[in-house]
Amino acid sequence: MKAIEIRNKYLNFFKNKGHKVIPSAPLIPENDPSVLFNTAGMQPLVPYLLGQKHPLGTRLTDYQKCVRTNDIDEVGDNRHLTYFEMLGNWSLGDYFKEESIAMSYEFLTKELEIPAEKISVTCFAGDEDCEKDTVSYEAWKKVGIPDERIYFFGKDDNWWIAGEEGPCGPDTEMFYDTGKQKCSPECNPSCDCGKYVEIWNNVFMEFYKDKNGYSKLKQKNVDTGLGLERMTMLLQGKETPYEIEIFEPVMKELEKLQKNDFIESRRIVTEHLRSSIMIINDGGRPSNVDRGYILRRLLRRMTRHLNKLEIDLNKLPEIIDVSIDSLHELYPELNENREQIKTVIIAEKDKFMKTLKNGEREFEKVANKTRAANKTIIDTNAVFNLYETYGFPPEMTEELAKEEGLKVDMSDYQKLFKEHQEKSRQGVEQKFKGGLASTGEMETKYHTATHLLNAALKVVLGDHVHQKGSNITEERMRFDFSHPVKMTDEEKQKVEDLVNNWIEEGIDVVCEEMSKEEAIKSGAECMFIEKYPDMVTVYTIGDFSKELCGGPHVKNTSELGHFKIKKEEASSSGVRRIKAVLE
Ligand code: ALA
Repeated sequence: MKAIEIRNKYLNFFKNKGHKVIPSAPLIPENDPSVLFNTAGMQPLVPYLLGQKHPLGTRLTDYQKCVRTNDIDEVGDNRHLTYFEMLGNWSLGDYFKEESIAMSYEFLTKELEIPAEKISVTCFAGDEDCEKDTVSYEAWKKVGIPDERIYFFGKDDNWWIAGEEGPCGPDTEMFYDTGKQKCSPECNPSCDCGKYVEIWNNVFMEFYKDKNGYSKLKQKNVDTGLGLERMTMLLQGKETPYEIEIFEPVMKELEKLQKNDFIESRRIVTEHLRSSIMIINDGGRPSNVDRGYILRRLLRRMTRHLNKLEIDLNKLPEIIDVSIDSLHELYPELNENREQIKTVIIAEKDKFMKTLKNGEREFEKVANKTRAANKTIIDTNAVFNLYETYGFPPEMTEELAKEEGLKVDMSDYQKLFKEHQEKSRQGVEQKFKGGLASTGEMETKYHTATHLLNAALKVVLGDHVHQKGSNITEERMRFDFSHPVKMTDEEKQKVEDLVNNWIEEGIDVVCEEMSKEEAIKSGAECMFIEKYPDMVTVYTIGDFSKELCGGPHVKNTSELGHFKIKKEEASSSGVRRIKAVLE
């Protein structure tokens, strides 16, 4: 079964069980300081898990584009991926454990036709925060999983939360038995040897965690996640994801072009190229901080490994084409951005090829200095400098050092790196304060204008409109929102008129401090509720706009001038982008 068929089966199955299919949010949650990319299907849904009413009801399903960056350096082995697609279904205070488990089991055994005896499951063992999950245990027994394939583990294995704070709860995980020998008599699904592969995670989100500990949410939710690439690999009987149709054509192309044969390098190029394509497609660009830096790292590592394979870098456009062609069925929108994606990747490759040469020269200097001082170990500061100034990942420096019979001292590297990261993080937080890099007069006006635009879009298009991101400069505003189709000229005109009417009416922008809970109860909208502190600021404009927001804003809408939409276009699947100005 191909990945696209698994995705379609999944969405259809849950549609038939009363779920509404919602679009994937963009990979890049703008204005969110703590996650660089969406890392799970639940992330864009947090406000609804906390109790806000979702316009499409209490049963939702989607595929979500995700990037997880913790394991970049592991990519090249037979399983780690940075980009992946997560299929998910949600109950927002609707069904709970028993029904969720019954649906998962039915999907796995009836739709995907996985033999029941290949499925093992794990449940939460219980601790001082939450009791043992006997309800899930009973539900698994009821569908027919025998005792010997039901395991109980503690928080390390069977508790899920995105990060440190937020909605969370015990989970039950499903594992596929590959049929390999047990690595030891104790081997079980929590073992990493490869016999058991996790295929699905159902989280029973009824708790909220903050620095004071756990409390109960208003409603009992279900949040599930199934990794598409992994499931495809298993159903196709493949040992690695690189053998499925998403990656295999690129692996083959590289094999054809290479002069050196390194399977790890081929995997790294194939994997990093796909992630980069997806990130660029959703608006990411290489830079030295935050998301841009992750993209840069992916593209540089890819370039280095293309070099290692001795592939002519002029062939890169063709390799990118092969990758986009392999992804096109899953993400038709890639075609629209094909040329732009190529331009960004090739520009970064060219840039790195420049620092690569200078960096190599710098490395030689450092190596000579080390030898002159009768040392065999290159000190941490030099390793870090090679990274910071020349973009050499430390593993690359280590590799170069090895070739010269030297080693690298990594002892303080993490400290230096953390300091560097901290600087970047502060940079992002600065930007997050109201989604602005600077807060001049024009930016402040644009910021208020995003609230008016958000409200007007809801009036004209419907309640399904939600902010998906924004970006403001002195000259213009950009606003991303969920909406499935292109806006008509008439709709655009209506939105513009409505915003201008509100501006002309001269309505006060009211700012109030309240607890997060109160804010949610009052119906205030926001993109990432879990990222806000306990006390929040809510801005209300008339009776049509109420948003949780860091500000700053103008005092009265009359200060804004005349609002004009310049462009309305696709941002990513299910998400539209408006560019507008105040004249
Ligand atoms: N949010 C859960 C996960 O990412 C389903 O595993």
